[in-house]
Formats: sequence, C-alpha cells, structure tokens
Amino acid sequence: MNIPSLFFALYFISIFLVSCQFIPTPRYLQTSVLVNNSKWYIFGGDFGNSIYTNEILYLDLSNSFDVNSPPWHKDQIGSSFKYSFSTSCVSVDNSSIFIIGGNMYDLDQRQEDPNYYSIIYEYSLNYSIWTTPNITGIDNFKECGGLKSIIDNTGRIFLYGGVRNISGEISNKMSIFYTSNMSWLSINLTTSRTGYTATLLKGGNITYIGGRSVATYNDSSYVNMNEILIFDTNSLSWYNVTAITAIGDYIEGRAGHSAVLARDSKILIYGGAKTPKARAVKPDLAMLDLNVYPFKWTILNNSLTLLTSHSAILYDDFMIIVGDDAEIG
Ligand SMILES: *[C@@H]1O[C@H](CO)[C@@H](O)[C@H](O)[C@H]1NC(C)=O
Ligand SMILES: *[C@@H]1O[C@H](CO)[C@@H](O)[C@H](O)[C@H]1NC(C)=O
Ligand SMILES: *[C@@H]1O[C@H](CO)[C@@H](O)[C@H](O)[C@H]1NC(C)=O
Ligand SMILES: *[C@@H]1O[C@H](CO)[C@@H](O)[C@H](O)[C@H]1NC(C)=O
Ligand SMILES: *[C@@H]1O[C@H](CO)[C@@H](O)[C@H](O)[C@H]1NC(C)=O
Ligand SMILES: *[C@@H]1O[C@H](CO)[C@@H](O)[C@H](O)[C@H]1NC(C)=O
Ligand SMILES: *[C@@H]1O[C@H](CO)[C@@H](O)[C@H](O)[C@H]1NC(C)=O
Ligand SMILES: *[C@@H]1O[C@H](CO)[C@@H](O)[C@H](O)[C@H]1NC(C)=O
Ligand SMILES: *[C@@H]1O[C@H](CO)[C@@H](O)[C@H](O)[C@H]1NC(C)=O
Ligand SMILES: *[C@@H]1O[C@H](CO)[C@@H](O)[C@H](O)[C@H]1NC(C)=O
Ligand SMILES: *[C@@H]1O[C@H](CO)[C@@H](O)[C@H](O)[C@H]1NC(C)=O
Repeated sequence: MNIPSLFFALYFISIFLVSCQFIPTPRYLQTSVLVNNSKWYIFGGDFGNSIYTNEILYLDLSNSFDVNSPPWHKDQIGSSFKYSFSTSCVSVDNSSIFIIGGNMYDLDQRQEDPNYYSIIYEYSLNYSIWTTPNITGIDNFKECGGLKSIIDNTGRIFLYGGVRNISGEISNKMSIFYTSNMSWLSINLTTSRTGYTATLLKGGNITYIGGRSVATYNDSSYVNMNEILIFDTNSLSWYNVTAITAIGDYIEGRAGHSAVLARDSKILIYGGAKTPKARAVKPDLAMLDLNVYPFKWTILNNSLTLLTSHSAILYDDFMIIVGDDAEIG
C-alpha cells in the first residue's frame, strides 16, 4: 500500500481567498457525499497501514476558498465506529446520510464485533447522531466494499456488485434499499463488477464505468472501459442485457477512479489504478459523451498527480478531488 497523502485540486477554474483552521490527516478509502449542493462531507477512511478513522470532515463549498488550504471543518463527535471502503449517500430530504458496507470496526478496531457492525448506519445531519435503522429483509454487505451507491429522488438506494474482502468474490447482485420503508429488494444480474463508478442520469438510468470483474488481479481482470453498463431504474434491469459499447480515444481499464456528471450529459472520469502496485493508468482524465451514439470517449489534458481511491464531486463547473492513492479496487 502506498503512503497516503492528500491532494486537492480544481479543474476549469479560477481561485479564491484563504483561511485555514484545520489540516486533516491524509487518508484514503474514505466515502464522501455532497449535501444540498453546499457541504461536502468526508466520512471515515484509512490513514495508512490499516489505521482507520471515525472522523467526519466537511468543506463548505458555498463560500470561496483557496484550493491550497481548503477550510476543512471537523465534526466534534465522530462516528461511534470506524470504517473504510464503505459507500454513502444523502437522504432525499438532505437531512441524513447513509453509510453502507465496507470494513467497519469498533473504535478499538476489533473487526466484526457484531455489537459494532451494521450493514447500514444513518447519520442525522440535524442532530449529529448515528442510528442503526431497523431494516425489513436481509442483505449482506458485511466486508463488501468497492461499491458506489446511488440514491434516486424516491429514496431508493442502488447498490451494485462490490468485492468481499475475505473471499475476493465479486458480486453480481443489485440490492435496492428503500429508505422510505427501510426494506431491501435484491436482484441477481448477469455481470459482476467492483471498483467501478456509478452515475445517475436524468430519466433514471445509472451508468456504470470501469472497475474489475474477476477476483484475481491481473491486467485482464479490469473491465474494458468501452463496455458501459446502463441500469434502468424504472424496469430494474440492464439496458440491452449486456454492456453498451463506446468508441473514441483509448482509455485503459482501471478501478478506484471517480466520475462526475458534467452539464450536457458528459461524464468526466479521473484517476484510478491497476493492482498490484497501484500501477498508474492512462489517461488520467477523460470525458464520456452520452449525447452521441455510440457514446464517445475523449482524453482531456491534466496536470494533477494521479490519484486512486479518492473522492470527487462536481460543484458548479468545478470538478473537485480529494484523496489518495491505494492499491485496492
Ligand atoms: C436537497 O439537495 C438537492 C441538491 O443536492 C436539492 O436539489 C434539493 O432541493 C434539496 N432538498 C431539500 C429538501 O433541501
Ligand atoms: C438546502 O439549501 C437551500 C438553499 O440553498 C435551503 O433553503 C434549504 O433549507 C436547504 N435544505 C436543507 C435540508 O438544509
Ligand atoms: C432537519 O432540519 C431541516 C431544516 O433545518 C428541517 O426542515 C427538517 O425537517 C429536519 N429533519 C429532521 C428529520 O428532523
Ligand atoms: C429499532 O427497534 C428497536 C426495538 O424495537 C428500538 O428500540 C429502536 O429504537 C429501533 N431503532 C430505530 C432507529 O428506529
Ligand atoms: C481483509 O481480510 C484479510 C484476511 O481475512 C484481513 O487480514 C484484512 O485485515 C482485511 N482487510 C480489511 C481492510 O479489513
Ligand atoms: C417498501 O416500499 C417499496 C416501494 O414502495 C415496496 O415495493 C415494498 O414492498 C415495500 N416493502 C415493505 C417491506 O413494505
Ligand atoms: C441469486 O443468487 C444467489 C446465489 O448467488 C442465490 O442463492 C439466489 O437464489 C439467487 N436469487 C435469485 C432471485 O435468483
Ligand atoms: C437509458 O439509456 C438508454 C441507452 O442509452 C437509452 O436508449 C434510454 O433512452 C435511456 N432511458 C432514459 C429514461 O433516459
Ligand atoms: C489473469 O487471471 C485469469 C484468472 O482470473 C487467468 O485466466 C489469466 O490467465 C490471467 N492472465 C494473466 C496474463 O496472468
Ligand atoms: C445490444 O447488445 C447486442 C449484443 O451484445 C449488441 O450487438 C448491440 O449492438 C447492443 N445494442 C446497443 C444499442 O448497444
Ligand atoms: C491536449 O494538449 C495537447 C498539447 O498541448 C493539444 O494538442 C490537445 O489538443 C489537447 N487536448 C485537449 C482535449 O484539449
């Protein structure tokens, strides 16, 4: 595993003023979520060498700041557990955040103590308290990471694939968690993936890009970046059963990259790597145009150090990236 470090960068930008109260410890395998288009929360993660954290950080994007010293805030009370490799999303009313799966520990890092392990935790932003929802039905994301959750405007959370830490097995399941009544629905799909990106489009399609499809790590374990999966959340099935083939510039397969949906139905992807040794992939930055058919890749120029297992969001016209390097995906 590489030594973590923290980078922060904006694309397509002009830059602002400074104020820096708090410099967070570098971390990776955190999970992040943008709330109400203003606060970017970073939950948990790994400081390196499996030192996990329960910290909750956020950045208020509604005020200008200097990208070289972003004004991070830290919630006084962290979570009552530590976690990495989890996924998260914000409730439809923006009042709470769900943390799902990954590797969860109690504060002493005794792994898998059932008293400290839940599939899903909910964090109330209004009251800064954590609860364990009482869920109808059973699903199991214990030690399952590498997922990217998507929540739609009816409060359905879509959780596809992922990798189980212990077995290395890559899941082909789509689990749908209804936050309206805290219940599960699971569907077996034809394709397994982990370490992909997931992007919800207008109209209810989720676009899955990249990642890994087999348990062993080698170059052929990574998905061809031209094989775009589209899950239709209306019919709860893949569009066209298998992948849709994109064309354009060659984008090397990868996991642990990030994706943001820019205006005009274009998805920007950034970073990622191949294991072992977190081998860098080319290009760093690319754009998938969904307005044309077939979808088309274009390589974009980039000057940032390559990151994997980081977090990224789109805010206004800025792609904001925070995070680090790791050999997982
Ligand atoms: C929640 O945040 C989204 C932006 O992410 C916004 O469109 C929506 O209006 C917000 N809802 C509430 C109830 O604040
Ligand atoms: C979301 O932001 C809007 C203004 O941008 C605000 O009116 C609204 O109260 C916020 N919602 C929540 C849940 O904080
Ligand atoms: C959270 O706070 C917002 C406004 O700050 C309020 O509209 C909303 O009802 C609160 N939600 C809960 C679950 O308490
Ligand atoms: C879950 O159910 C238990 C027992 O019925 C109850 O004590 C607890 O408050 C419930 N938790 C939530 C978050 O509703
Ligand atoms: C994954 O599983 C291995 C073997 O069971 C264990 O040693 C390791 O700590 C686990 N990794 C994480 C991040 O939990
Ligand atoms: C939860 O809500 C969904 C959607 O409304 C519904 O299909 C499902 O049957 C409900 N599950 C339970 C246990 O009530
Ligand atoms: C999904 O696959 C699992 C095993 O991988 C199996 O136990 C389960 O019955 C399947 N579910 C359906 C609905 O086919
Ligand atoms: C979902 O994606 C497919 C393939 O690109 C497209 O034909 C379809 O119109 C999309 N559905 C919606 C509701 O946008
Ligand atoms: C990569 O791993 C697969 C098994 O998942 C194996 O079939 C294949 O031969 C391996 N390729 C190389 C180049 O080692
Ligand atoms: C649907 O899948 C088939 C078989 O993989 C492929 O030949 C066809 O081009 C795909 N259609 C679209 C619209 O991508
Ligand atoms: C990237 O930079 C090269 C050389 O600076 C330039 O020729 C090329 O057009 C640029 N590509 C894009 C997509 O901007």
